[in-house]
Amino acid sequence: MEHLLPFKKTRNAKNHIKNTAVITVIALALLAVIRLNYPIPQYSSPILSIHNNNNNNPEVLSVHHVRSNNPTVDMIKITDDQEKCDVFTGEWVPNPDAPYYTNTTCWAIHEHQNCMKYGRPDSDFMKWKWKPDGCDLQVLNPFQFLDIVRGKSLAFVGDSVGRNQMQSMICLLSRVEYPIDVSPTTDEHFKRWKYVNYNFTMAYFWSPFLVRSNERDPNRSTNTDLFNLYLDEYDESWTNQIDEFDYVILNAGHWLTRTAIYYENRRIVGCRYCQLPNLTDLPVAYGYRRVFRTAFRSLNERENYKGVTFLRTFAPSHFEGGPWNAGGDCVRRRPFRSNETVLEGLNMDMYMTQLEEFRAAEKMGKKRFRLLDTTQAMLLRPDGHPSRYGHWPNEKVTLYNDCVHWCLPGPIDTWADLLHHMIKMEARRWYNERLLQPQKKKKMH
Ligand SMILES: *[C@@H]1O[C@H](CO)[C@@H](O)[C@H](O)[C@H]1NC(C)=O
Ligand SMILES: *[C@@H]1O[C@H](CO)[C@@H](O)[C@H](O)[C@H]1NC(C)=O
Ligand SMILES: *[C@@H]1O[C@H](CO)[C@@H](O)[C@H](O)[C@H]1NC(C)=O
Ligand SMILES: *[C@@H]1O[C@H](CO)[C@@H](O)[C@H](O)[C@H]1NC(C)=O
Ligand SMILES: *[C@@H]1O[C@H](CO)[C@@H](O)[C@H](O)[C@H]1NC(C)=O
Repeated sequence: MEHLLPFKKTRNAKNHIKNTAVITVIALALLAVIRLNYPIPQYSSPILSIHNNNNNNPEVLSVHHVRSNNPTVDMIKITDDQEKCDVFTGEWVPNPDAPYYTNTTCWAIHEHQNCMKYGRPDSDFMKWKWKPDGCDLQVLNPFQFLDIVRGKSLAFVGDSVGRNQMQSMICLLSRVEYPIDVSPTTDEHFKRWKYVNYNFTMAYFWSPFLVRSNERDPNRSTNTDLFNLYLDEYDESWTNQIDEFDYVILNAGHWLTRTAIYYENRRIVGCRYCQLPNLTDLPVAYGYRRVFRTAFRSLNERENYKGVTFLRTFAPSHFEGGPWNAGGDCVRRRPFRSNETVLEGLNMDMYMTQLEEFRAAEKMGKKRFRLLDTTQAMLLRPDGHPSRYGHWPNEKVTLYNDCVHWCLPGPIDTWADLLHHMIKMEARRWYNERLLQPQKKKKMH
């Protein structure tokens, strides 16, 4: 209770209490449950550090029984159980209720992820849900989600797995409403969708390296796709437009394993698999580290960017029997249990690298950074990729067996559940910040 006292003593806060009795009861109950604690995220369990150890406090129990007339307050209530819980560690369990849409009810499924259309014979891969070890993760309620993001905007920045996630969201939310296309151009790399009844905008920015890049030989005369990556330069196609967004989900991964020439300070510092004379071959993690550093720096430096940045962590691919371009495929038909596989090798390197850069960005303390830590859940889903069911058998496509993207419907739908959970936590933090403000002001005097 100690931390409630200064709050009560403050005159502003007192008025507040008198004004709205209902809100106050909730406020006090919430204050008893959580203590604002920046910076919050820890390695894979940002949720863990939110709860304090006040579990013996009777106020904590009362939070479950508080009812209010304010739907937003009701929505952001999260039980103790969920607060303590690391939602990113768990198992996949059967879910007979899934899927929540099909390729006939949802038009937003990308051709190459429409696995049923291309003859995928099994459908069990859709019928699982993510069960965190210490609690239950609520399956997305699209009405509740849209209510909480009313008047807000969300951007997906990164590669086609980000687009995959956005299309999953569109399908899941389609039970309530389809967005209208308000894209500024016809370029499919930059989409904008508007939920008219909720004034909610979702946007997609194609930036597979997150930093400035170009193709070294745009005419492909040599038929290699070699990229120039300017590791310390912003990709202004998204950084210049990001200020208006309330939530930004960043991702990058698979493209960093491709051949590229790395520049820093406008000078070549080395390359990745380029096989050019006199260039140092650098490990994947070298480029990966720097692109996140640069992307996070761009956000930290933007005066007018007030959004919450989510790092959607690396989702491993599942090629077995060879690499993607030499016969590798993903033919498993069941999720792994957590004791059947481990994160290792390149996957581990990439995951650790992005977490380190995330923590460094967060330490600068300028903006709000959160982890959307999908790595462990997706590591366990070798069965969720299109494999050869992302196109007709005779079609000539670069990625014939696609073990990188995710079928829709499919396991990537779970990211919406995780995101909903995170956004609820954000809303609650926001409430607490407002409630604690009088206290902060007093301290400054
Ligand atoms: C949906 O999937 C079915 C197979 O389950 C397929 O026959 C149909 O063409 C697909 N429809 C669309 C619109 O993709
Ligand atoms: C819609 O949301 C934007 C912020 O995203 C806000 O500026 C605008 O006023 C809202 N419009 C309406 C009609 O509420
Ligand atoms: C690519 O092709 C265009 C037109 O064919 C030509 O103008 C341009 O110089 C070429 N660029 C390179 C880098 O070869
Ligand atoms: C590689 O470096 C050596 C020694 O610095 C130099 O003699 C040679 O010309 C370089 N080769 C290329 C292709 O730049
Ligand atoms: C994994 O755990 C399950 C359930 O606890 C158990 O039945 C199974 O034998 C374990 N598998 C391995 C490979 O350890």
